[in-house]
Amino acid sequence: IHNLETENSVLNQFISEIRDSTIQKDSMRFRKNIERIGEVLGYELSKSLKYTSKTVHTPLGTKEVSVPEQDLVLCSILRAGLPLHQGLINYFDTAENAFISAYRDHTEDSDDFEVVVNYLASPSLENKTLILADPMLATGKTLENTIKAMENHGKPKQIHIVSVIGSKEGVEYVKDVFPESTQLWIAAIDPELSNRGYIIPGLGDSGDLSFG
Ligand code: PRP
Repeated sequence: IHNLETENSVLNQFISEIRDSTIQKDSMRFRKNIERIGEVLGYELSKSLKYTSKTVHTPLGTKEVSVPEQDLVLCSILRAGLPLHQGLINYFDTAENAFISAYRDHTEDSDDFEVVVNYLASPSLENKTLILADPMLATGKTLENTIKAMENHGKPKQIHIVSVIGSKEGVEYVKDVFPESTQLWIAAIDPELSNRGYIIPGLGDSGDLSFG
């Protein structure tokens, strides 16, 4: 688990703005902040990828440089994942992309819900590096259902999860259901989860704040 909030950086400014109930009303700024967080988390994650060296010819000479592996698949969970996806794709130029939809189906008059996946478009994941992006990791059930739904698209060699705010409980849950080698890149981990599965203090509903 890489919890980036523990290191003081400009990332904390972006997180404070998306949490702030006044500032977050500006949906364009909210989306932009989620995108910027995606860029920061993507940059941090890039340090753990495999690198190969290549020779670059400048106008004045040659230079050996190392560049990251090119077998990435970025998968975002609709719809809150879209601005986070944009941040990641800003940095991973040649990544392939997958999209999956998941929503919470609340049974009437009850706090219980099941997570329903009803759309999935994905390239083959076989032996590739999969980056799963979802800004909120509340119970962890969405991520669990997502990875289950992707099973018949091949086995990735490495999975990274990129998230903005998670609950302690959700982070633990995900640890149990994903392979041990999975790495989680997260901007903040909050202590509580409400009965309805909302992160507290969290930020509210990321999908609604981005898209109404
Ligand atoms: C929210 C959020 C995550 C999910 C996290 O999606 O964007 O996808 O809940 O919850 P979990 O960890 O308990 O599964 P929501 O269902 O609100 O859909 P939306 O993105 O369309 O707003």
